[in-house]
Amino acid sequence: MSAGMSRHEVAQKLRTHWLGRDLHLLEQVGSTNDEAASRARAGAPHGTVVIADAQSIGRGRQGHQWYSPPGHNLYLSAILRLAMPPNAVPPLTLAAGIATCEVARCLGVPASLKWPNDVLVGGRKLAGILAEMSTRGATTEVVILGVGMNVNSTTFPQDLSRTATSLRIERGGEAMDRADVLALLLFELERWINLFVSEGAPAIVSAWKERTHFLGQRVSVKVEDKVVTGWAMDVDADGALLLGREDGTSLRVLSGEVTLPEGEP
Ligand code: BTN
Repeated sequence: MSAGMSRHEVAQKLRTHWLGRDLHLLEQVGSTNDEAASRARAGAPHGTVVIADAQSIGRGRQGHQWYSPPGHNLYLSAILRLAMPPNAVPPLTLAAGIATCEVARCLGVPASLKWPNDVLVGGRKLAGILAEMSTRGATTEVVILGVGMNVNSTTFPQDLSRTATSLRIERGGEAMDRADVLALLLFELERWINLFVSEGAPAIVSAWKERTHFLGQRVSVKVEDKVVTGWAMDVDADGALLLGREDGTSLRVLSGEVTLPEGEP
């Protein structure tokens, strides 16, 4: 038993071809992204997945922490060695968001996406994606794709109590088998990564738009240290957000943190 699951049980449930066939189930790590990056540097192959029962310094986007207590949720990182230049990689995170959203929907939870890849239910955050890339010149060496999904947590620290949710909460309190959710998550991630690699960004962007309520809303986007307000007009073919400004101009945002006016996460 490790990562709160038995290896045998996970192996029996896994339906992927290449993702997670090399699977490392760990008890506690600092961050699975860091653990996967160190294994990648040591030569771990494409598709290797590291999953932990708990993280002591789970990392979110934009320097946030990711709440990672033991015994409840999924924290995993995949090592992806993709033959594409670094500037073609960003829509991969949209693909991972779609995959995670699909997991929730398959389990009866009406999740949707907020740009770039937050998975929300009723405005509360169910899951998040943190992709980190290492490059050499114009070559992508490795992408570490981290996914955190709140599965069985029923309580959150005070600062998250109004903004976070879990599959268990959304399904009326029924505890979920984490190995089932893990197998489904890896299956969906593989499916959407395959689609991204075979069809490219446009297929991913259009699938992403089908799963969001975000476009058309007034939003604030924190880009580095500046907050810019406007309308979320569109997501372009590269996955960038097009923000309409009050003065009639538009801004193309490649990466940033979005807040909705009602204070949704
Ligand atoms: C976000 O801020 O929305 C992204 C959260 C990503 C959390 C996951 S948990 C597994 C992996 N390891 C980390 O340290 N972070 C990611």
